[in-house]
Amino acid sequence: MTDSTIPTVRLGENGPEVGVQGLGCMGMSFAYGPADADASRATLERALDLGVTLYDTADAYGAGDNERFLSPFFRAHRDRVVIATKFALSIPPDDPTKRTIRNDPPYIRQAVDASLRRLGVDVIDLYYMHRRDVNVPIEESVGTMAELVRAGKVKHLGLSEVTADELRAAHAVHPIAAVQSEWSLFSRDIEAKVVPAARELGVALVPYSPLGRGFLTGSFTNAETDLTADDFRRHQPRFTGANAAANAALLEPVRAVAKAHDATPGQIALAWVQQRAAVHGLPVVPIPGTRKPSRVEENVAATRIELTEEELALLEPIAGQVAGDRYADMTFTSAGRE
Ligand SMILES: NC(=O)c1ccc[n+]([C@@H]2O[C@H](COP(=O)([O-])OP(=O)(O)OC[C@H]3O[C@@H](n4cnc5c(N)ncnc54)[C@H](OP(=O)(O)O)[C@@H]3O)[C@@H](O)[C@H]2O)c1
Repeated sequence: MTDSTIPTVRLGENGPEVGVQGLGCMGMSFAYGPADADASRATLERALDLGVTLYDTADAYGAGDNERFLSPFFRAHRDRVVIATKFALSIPPDDPTKRTIRNDPPYIRQAVDASLRRLGVDVIDLYYMHRRDVNVPIEESVGTMAELVRAGKVKHLGLSEVTADELRAAHAVHPIAAVQSEWSLFSRDIEAKVVPAARELGVALVPYSPLGRGFLTGSFTNAETDLTADDFRRHQPRFTGANAAANAALLEPVRAVAKAHDATPGQIALAWVQQRAAVHGLPVVPIPGTRKPSRVEENVAATRIELTEEELALLEPIAGQVAGDRYADMTFTSAGRE
């Protein structure tokens, strides 16, 4: 592993040791408007310099494009990076806008081979089930994922957007190193059941969208007016119309705390999610997404910010006041099934 400038933590009891902040790579190929490939490559290199070792992708990000884009970086630094990718969102070749959730064993077996080919590596360090297909018993899906571990294709297993019961059932089949779910100042659904279950089982939490998909940085206030036509956030209820205006007003205490630390609101959002580790007693490795080297520097610097009890109290009510769901279809989340 690298000479880390940030502390490291283990994912799960026997999982990989990673820098306490990872890097979300989705936006480099998908969902958040046009990306500059050179800037994205520089961001990956800068992150590595700063001690970021967990890199997050998925087969569905740009229908394989994101894994292909990351391949040269991963291959160049194979012994220093922890590669996390995901399966389950099947994209029909005739309609790239559609996704079907697939957790059945034949699907999983072909998905892992396709990811390995695109990534150009022999083994995936952390392989997540991206979404739960409720038509397939989770024991069967995780049993197949465990086969991949035995076959040497995958080192560790993870689950994304699962309920506490699903996590327990899965962990009984094979140790789960990490649950990846949305967790931020705006999205705290998982604190009720999933986080306590993860703590009890010794599973780490990898919060995705810890910057509230960028909204918590103040870089956009209304997805319809501020973002490009193809940006996924235009379909998320909390970022449009009256909800967006109401939610922008919730950033006031974040700005006040930021000022006290000579920091940015985004850094406070990241420090808050990082401090959930101490609050809930489990490893927490947020994976903020960025395509800009200066922003990865800013985000990594947030690992050094410690919020006081008073500041945490000021930020506490925010999530309860957010207007609008985090997805248009909440059955796409663990909260929709709890
Ligand atoms: N498991 C799942 O279902 C799931 C769902 C969503 C995401 N994810 C993973 O989680 C990762 C992170 O989530 P996310 O990308 O959705 O949301 P996020 O990390 O909360 O926010 C990303 C957005 O914030 C902007 N940003 C980042 N740093 C910034 C800074 N310092 N100042 C201002 N703006 C900044 C980024 O823009 P630039 O890129 O232009 O800097 C991007 O638009 C993804 O990349 C993906 O790997 C997983």
